[in-house]
Amino acid sequence: MTWQATVLTIFPEMFPGPLGISLSGKALEKEIWKLKTLDIRDFTSDKHQSVDDAPFGGGAGMVMRSDVVDAAVEASGDVGPLIYLSPRGIPLTQSKAKSLAEGPGVRLLSGRYEGIDQRVLDTRKAEEISVGDYVLSGGELGAMVLIDACIRLLPGFMGQSESLIEESFEGGLLEYPHYTRPRVWNGIEVPAVLTSGDHSRIAAWRREQAKATTRERRPDMWAEFARRG
Ligand SMILES: C[S@@+](CC[C@H](N)C(=O)[O-])C[C@H]1O[C@@H](n2cnc3c(N)ncnc32)[C@H](O)[C@@H]1O
Repeated sequence: MTWQATVLTIFPEMFPGPLGISLSGKALEKEIWKLKTLDIRDFTSDKHQSVDDAPFGGGAGMVMRSDVVDAAVEASGDVGPLIYLSPRGIPLTQSKAKSLAEGPGVRLLSGRYEGIDQRVLDTRKAEEISVGDYVLSGGELGAMVLIDACIRLLPGFMGQSESLIEESFEGGLLEYPHYTRPRVWNGIEVPAVLTSGDHSRIAAWRREQAKATTRERRPDMWAEFARRG
């Protein structure tokens, strides 16, 4: 069955957006993945089509109503887990993307305003996922990030499977640096080892670079890598 992303949003016109171009767009055309959007506003019952209301307890901003969101979730079917994109969620990682890509798909709830009434998140057992420690204006860009991270892992998405094997986070390290022509640019030569033709020396150099970069930039990943041995 084709991997499916179902996005629940008040701005369905944002999709496929950037996911409709380049590799992800081609994969969408080739039906390597499917995209379905649901306009949360279609599930309102008042004449103003209000999806939000003032927060109980006071405070700034508005909150998306549980009755409206719940009706949209009900209509979203059952292909994949229900995920609420939220800065309060567990950070998205490569291993999470991998496990989601191995499933049938995802249902992605995109918040706006101050967020969504907690009761519908609890009742529907929505898993909360964050795309980083910063606050976006809405969950749609987060949903796109999550979809992109998953679909590029789907069989048939990429031509060369090696490019996936050697990527950052695979094997617990960030990737080594890349170089291409010209061999000398602005007076800077590419590292000599890369033009030596000695594949085992190249592999060893890349591994050392990956380790050094990880140690310097991501002490958390480096500690985990060292722990695993
Ligand atoms: C303005 S934000 C609400 C922020 C919320 N009041 C808070 O402080 O946690 C509106 C919506 O953007 C989305 N969003 C914002 N930051 C995000 C992040 N880092 N990861 C995933 N979604 C995010 C969520 O869906 C959220 O409901």
